[in-house]
Amino acid sequence: MSSTLIAIREGAAAADCDGLCSPTKEKAANRGVYCGRSPLLYRRFRFLLGGLRTNLLLSLFALSFVVMFSSRIGPIMGWYPDYPSSVSYPSRGGYTVLINTWKQNTLLKQSVAHYASCSGTDAIHVVWSESDPPSASLKAFLKKIVLLKSQAARKPNFKFDLNEEDNLNNRFKPIKDLRTDAIFSVDDDVIVPCHTLDFAFAVWQSAPHTMVGFVPRMHWLAQERSSMTYYKYGGWWSVWWTGSYSMVLTKAAFFHRMYLDLYTNKMPSSIQDYITTKRNCEDIAMSLLVANITNAPPIWVKGKMHDIGSSGISSLRGHGNTRNKCLNDFISLYGMMPLVSTNAKAVDAKHEWFW
Ligand SMILES: *[C@@H]1O[C@H](CO)[C@@H](O)[C@H](O)[C@H]1NC(C)=O
Repeated sequence: MSSTLIAIREGAAAADCDGLCSPTKEKAANRGVYCGRSPLLYRRFRFLLGGLRTNLLLSLFALSFVVMFSSRIGPIMGWYPDYPSSVSYPSRGGYTVLINTWKQNTLLKQSVAHYASCSGTDAIHVVWSESDPPSASLKAFLKKIVLLKSQAARKPNFKFDLNEEDNLNNRFKPIKDLRTDAIFSVDDDVIVPCHTLDFAFAVWQSAPHTMVGFVPRMHWLAQERSSMTYYKYGGWWSVWWTGSYSMVLTKAAFFHRMYLDLYTNKMPSSIQDYITTKRNCEDIAMSLLVANITNAPPIWVKGKMHDIGSSGISSLRGHGNTRNKCLNDFISLYGMMPLVSTNAKAVDAKHEWFW
């Protein structure tokens, strides 16, 4: 079963990245794993149906095994089916939640309350980018809610990082007095459940220079004429279709705090100015920055997240074109393509029954 999956994934990448293919992908294509779109869809269906049938049988078998095992041997051995994994309680350090907000105080209250309740949260910083500072009542409310919701022995620090200018670069300004290396960057209208967050944090801990997130995006080479290369930015459906990605968005992602410094102080100021003017693409810039340093892809973590806000910026018309343009303009500034694609996705093995 798993070999089918790998073949399909490789084939998908081969079909998609014409011109950029690695030897393995080419081999997969030559083996006749095909190039073309409808066979892929067909295979996906077949795989899904076949998978469902086998999974059902195996699930029944496993279920009876688990029931028997947990009721008989479990208590003797001290194993219980829902015994919490160590992942639910990060043992070393924790993370700083960096919330970017803009004129959505109701949502901000909800998300601060939520992240304060996660055991891995060491601090919450809210990036405020309005000419008027947050009201005293909002400040008092948020401080109180953090103390109230936190279950940790050490209550998370709560702080507003004030900026008078509305500029997307604000969200990546270095923070003084950080106690953690891990930053969880998140939009004010995105809620990631605590156990999912802790799992992603554990993934990040094993690759602390990598971006680890929940919202994958991809790029592909659209045309290559004599000397001109043009890339396209692919949204969720492209990722779903191909199973590959090369960026994770900072609307919900972990990264090392050193990237705040690198973004603000080392990244070419032309990129920052571009973001200031266009009011978009700070997340693409961060992905490029990290990829240029690590020469490696980010990690996409499986997990549900909830959008508590209204329609995001990506639903605005013309957004796709803006993103394409940002990507290409940044790439020409870099003089090369730093992004690296991957098909790997991190899942919590505790919730996967079959290997
Ligand atoms: C990309 O990384 C290289 C070093 O590997 C560095 O010299 C270059 O300045 C970086 N590019 C940008 C645009 O930051």
